Amino acid sequence: MPHDLTVVVLAAGGGTRMKSKRMKVLHEVGGRSMVGHVLAAVQATQPTRIVAVVGHQREEVTAHVQQLVPDCLLAVQENLDGTGGAVRVALEATGPVSGTVLVAAGDTPLLDGDTLLRFAHEHEAAERAVSILTGVVDDPFGYGRILRNDDGDVEGIVEEKDATPAQREIHEINSGILAFDGEFLGQALGRLTNDNAKGEYYLTDVVGLAREDGLTVGAHVIDDVKQTEGANDRAQLAALGAELNRRIVTRWMRDGVTVMDPATTWIDADVVLAEDVTILPGTQLLGATVVAEDAVIGPDCTLKDCEIGAGARVVRTHGELAVIGGGATVGPWSYLRPGTQLGAGGKIGAFVETKNAVIGDGAKVPHLSYVGDAEIGEGTNIGAGTIFANYDGVQKHRTTVGRHARTASNNTFVAPVEIGDGAATGAGTVVRRNVPPGALAVSTGPQRNIEGWAARRRAGTPQAEAAAAASAQDAEDTDDAPGP
Ligand code: UD1
Ligand code: CA
Repeated sequence: MPHDLTVVVLAAGGGTRMKSKRMKVLHEVGGRSMVGHVLAAVQATQPTRIVAVVGHQREEVTAHVQQLVPDCLLAVQENLDGTGGAVRVALEATGPVSGTVLVAAGDTPLLDGDTLLRFAHEHEAAERAVSILTGVVDDPFGYGRILRNDDGDVEGIVEEKDATPAQREIHEINSGILAFDGEFLGQALGRLTNDNAKGEYYLTDVVGLAREDGLTVGAHVIDDVKQTEGANDRAQLAALGAELNRRIVTRWMRDGVTVMDPATTWIDADVVLAEDVTILPGTQLLGATVVAEDAVIGPDCTLKDCEIGAGARVVRTHGELAVIGGGATVGPWSYLRPGTQLGAGGKIGAFVETKNAVIGDGAKVPHLSYVGDAEIGEGTNIGAGTIFANYDGVQKHRTTVGRHARTASNNTFVAPVEIGDGAATGAGTVVRRNVPPGALAVSTGPQRNIEGWAARRRAGTPQAEAAAAASAQDAEDTDDAPGP
């Protein structure tokens, strides 16, 4: 249905119960700010225009909204004089609107685009002046109550503070999401008064005004009330975050992802998983992480903005902005920092830290190493305990290791340095100069054994005793040996 839809997102209130330097709607769940979730739902309705009303911390909120939705209009509410006042400044920013105006709050992270769209369509199909998205809740405290007449028609909304004891018994509440005929809203806002318990201009009073004018008012009762629940404090934020996560994890399981333990699996809203991915307990997939089919992640991984190839295996790993090739293996206890790229079939093993490191197909860094600012060619094996010494105390430098090289244990590559294709190094080598292709680099001198050193220099210690006992045994073994 082609429609003229204006969506107003209310985000001016301070949210003092968060007790935070950060504005309420900027608090995050599921890897997005609360207002980010709302804007994503709003964008899914493909509205003609979106207006965000900002007030408290308007610079931060404005910058955030503009980053997420560059063409979002912004309206500044100088005085927080109520939801009616907020929508009034929104319509000052747009100019007179026809079509439908949908109003939503900026703190409802579970809101779904389909819900908004269906609500707007129903409002339009019924040709109402006002539609209210309502919910029936166990504890209606704090909400505006829906007043209906004996025929069940909606007559108005009364706020908690203005309600009579009898009205407070009503369990049908205003979710805060309303749809209006734009032209009617424009003129009704001018008729609002602040003659109420809070001294505010209530948007909800527009419902009563529509009834006075003999216009049609209706409500849609939402089944899934969590979608319109706002987080006012951090306990509610965590509860909604957990519910959001349950929904995301369930959705991925329905889409063919195996999740062994949904309770300890956290998946952000923007993560993308392929069929037959397996997630083991204690795993967090965050940000814009993408996992290809048949990959197995976990247990105990935190991957933020990572790309994991098909069939890769990632165990007990912390990674950020890393790309892991298909069939590669990572972990346990690996730390992948930004700019890590592991090729197909490659390996980053236990206690290995990587940063700005491009590791080729089939290349391996199996044990106890730091690989920073490096390029390692395909098929190369880096020995255990290798340090890519990339920092001279002032600047960072790069190390390049060629294809099919074999470097030995306990090496230090002092950058900038290049090790050629097919080159090798000896154990304990400190590579300070380039190694040509195919060469063996050794920097440690030939080994010298100084006989009897322990007896002379460590006399009386267990070390000297052990050495003496071994010599005696050796002598005996030699005596016993049959002669040639
Ligand atoms: C509002 C509704 C109530 C509904 C409830 C749902 C009114 C008068 N009441 O009550 O019927 O049940 O939401 O949560 O509308 N805001 C502004 N500027 C303002 C005041 C508020 O932008 O001057 C924004 C807030 O940031 C928030 C939203 O509007 O996002 C709702 O405001 P809030 O103060 O929470 O309204 P409630 O009293 O909860
Ligand atoms: Ca509220």
